[in-house]
Amino acid sequence: MRRGSSCGETLKPVTFPTPVQEQIILVENRMRAQGADCHPDLRAALDHLLAAGGKRIRPTLGLLVGNLLGGNSDTLVTLGAAVELLHTATLVHDDLIDGALLRRGAETINARWSSAATVLTGDFLFARAAKLAAETDNLQLMRYFADTLAVIVNGELTQLFSARGVIHRDNYYQRIYAKTASLFEMSTRAAAMISAGDNQSAIETMRKFGYEIGMAFQIVDDLLDFTGDQSTVGKPLGSDLLQGLVTLPAIYYAEANPDHPDVRSLAAGGWGDHERMERLVQSIRNSDSIHRAMREAEGHIQSAVDCLVTFDNTEERSALEELARYVVDRRV
Ligand code: IPE
Ligand code: IPE
Ligand code: MG
Ligand code: MG
Repeated sequence: MRRGSSCGETLKPVTFPTPVQEQIILVENRMRAQGADCHPDLRAALDHLLAAGGKRIRPTLGLLVGNLLGGNSDTLVTLGAAVELLHTATLVHDDLIDGALLRRGAETINARWSSAATVLTGDFLFARAAKLAAETDNLQLMRYFADTLAVIVNGELTQLFSARGVIHRDNYYQRIYAKTASLFEMSTRAAAMISAGDNQSAIETMRKFGYEIGMAFQIVDDLLDFTGDQSTVGKPLGSDLLQGLVTLPAIYYAEANPDHPDVRSLAAGGWGDHERMERLVQSIRNSDSIHRAMREAEGHIQSAVDCLVTFDNTEERSALEELARYVVDRRV
């Protein structure tokens, strides 16, 4: 697992151990090859995005699950490249939507280019991701891939139009499922679909494993927005509440302090008041809401690890367990 500098020359050491490093390099190569035969500026944008690194956690999960179930390596690499490119495309558009200038410690596409060029770059990546998905020669998987993208986009749109200032648990869980856990779920389920034949029970177990990891992953992402170190995380932090996005730590805080004026203000649409929201961020940081949200993420990780007990204790299974723990221990 490698993270690189923005120029891609100095690579930092691994962030979590995994026996699929060689296959991940093949995934990277497959992604890079998608820039052939396109406009030089588009190719430069793709190179910039790939050089900045990223944890590659979704293809790593897919490869480990597929290897554990005896899947074909080439098909798993193709699937991994499709999933990671889809993820990259959603980040390109997400940063434009959020006006974020930093991602993976490097400038975002929207920081360097116009909105028009950024939208088109994201579209190009979506198209290439779909092409890679088609190269698995599995119609069911292609349909699943398209359905997952629709869930993500619908989730982002719902967040944009009707989630601002909403302090509601079910709304939060639906949002994080749509924008994040659905793709984790797809990464592990699709890998199982192409590796486990008609073993429906293994496919369902791996779906649930991916779902639990994905829910924990977004809860921790939301925690890092309060507690993370921006230079380590490599993207803007402390910004969710300022955009009216009420995440799990804020929900715990609001539940414990329903009559606090800052909480009332948030619920009444007051997230545009920066001073108030920054004070609220500080109050949440100093409260036990952070700890409570982390406990909830750990619960998902425990459920994920429990999914694996029916499988033999192989190198892949231990790596999946380690990766699950990394999701809650990570600083990036
Ligand atoms: C960022 O995902 C977007 C979220 C779903 C929180 P990652 O944290 O996996 O991003 P990279 O790929 O490692 O940069
Ligand atoms: C983004 O979620 C998830 C996507 C589908 C792109 P966030 O908005 O929380 O991700 P970051 O914090 O920008 O990485
Ligand atoms: Mg964002
Ligand atoms: Mg975030």
